Amino acid sequence: MNLGVKVGRLELKNPVLVASGTFGYGEEYAPLIDLNQLGGIVVKGTSLKPKIGNPPPRLAEVSCGLLNAIGLENIGVEQFIQEKLPFLKKFDTKIIVNIFGFSIDEYAALAEILDTTGIDALEVNVSCPNIKTGGEVFATDPKMVAQITQAVCQRTHLPVFVKLSPQVTDIVAIAKAAMDAGADGVSLINSFPAMGVDVFTRKPKLGNITGGLSGPCLKPIALKMVWDIVRNSNIPVIGIGGITNFEDALEYLIVGAKAIQIGSANFLNPQVSIEVIKGIKAYLERHEIKDINMIIGSLKT
Ligand SMILES: Cc1cc2nc3c(=O)[nH]c(=O)nc-3n(C[C@H](O)[C@H](O)[C@H](O)COP(=O)(O)O)c2cc1C
Repeated sequence: MNLGVKVGRLELKNPVLVASGTFGYGEEYAPLIDLNQLGGIVVKGTSLKPKIGNPPPRLAEVSCGLLNAIGLENIGVEQFIQEKLPFLKKFDTKIIVNIFGFSIDEYAALAEILDTTGIDALEVNVSCPNIKTGGEVFATDPKMVAQITQAVCQRTHLPVFVKLSPQVTDIVAIAKAAMDAGADGVSLINSFPAMGVDVFTRKPKLGNITGGLSGPCLKPIALKMVWDIVRNSNIPVIGIGGITNFEDALEYLIVGAKAIQIGSANFLNPQVSIEVIKGIKAYLERHEIKDINMIIGSLKT
């Protein structure tokens, strides 16, 4: 049976990846699951300089989902390369580094620094405020998404995936802007801006007041966005949002995503990614399908 997929130039032994920010640098999960089995690991958001996160509480459960306002805390790219990458490289899985910056130059510099480090791909998180334009979020403007993508692609040979925010009016236009600027594909969706209130203390559930919503509540929204892109283009898509079991993953693949990422569910059940891979395999066996690629984009409408 073939579980291998190709997303743009990135070849994966199976379509199951773990999402940025929910799997740290892999170390935390290594004692709990066999990382060699994963299609790939998307490393937590990495910036040029180390970044301190938001004040606590930074995570809160809400109905059907999770709120987070980590504030993109990370150790910075140099420390990542020296201290974390050697560990990740020990495993037979693809390493995709999620990068973010507050200017186009920062994104481009990150791409150049990571280009020759032996990682397998970059995932460009465009959900960041552009400090130079007064804080406008890159992800909402096709022109800015194109500029970042082009700047990144000019400075790296690695496959580049642009991670899209759901808080836009036309996701297809943004995906096309990224592709026209040289991306290998898009990954979607990032968490959705949201908040929660504790009625007893009347305080926000997050120290930062607002944050990002993830988890099962996202799945129907994300599926529709993946579908919108797939049916309007040939853009390779990695589906993200609310995947908690193999059926969820299959929904994305059937709609046309070439791979998927599992995020919040890792917190609930560290084994979930392995269970999803096993579940997909068993499904293919049961239906006598020899190649996962026969499932991808097989939606009957
Ligand atoms: C605690 C936490 C931290 C996250 N950090 C990042 C990040 O650094 N970069 C990024 O692009 N997405 C980040 N995300 C978004 C996830 O990668 C994913 O897009 C989102 O959670 C939706 O998937 P899910 O419903 O499976 O969790 C984070 C999500 C959570 C819950």
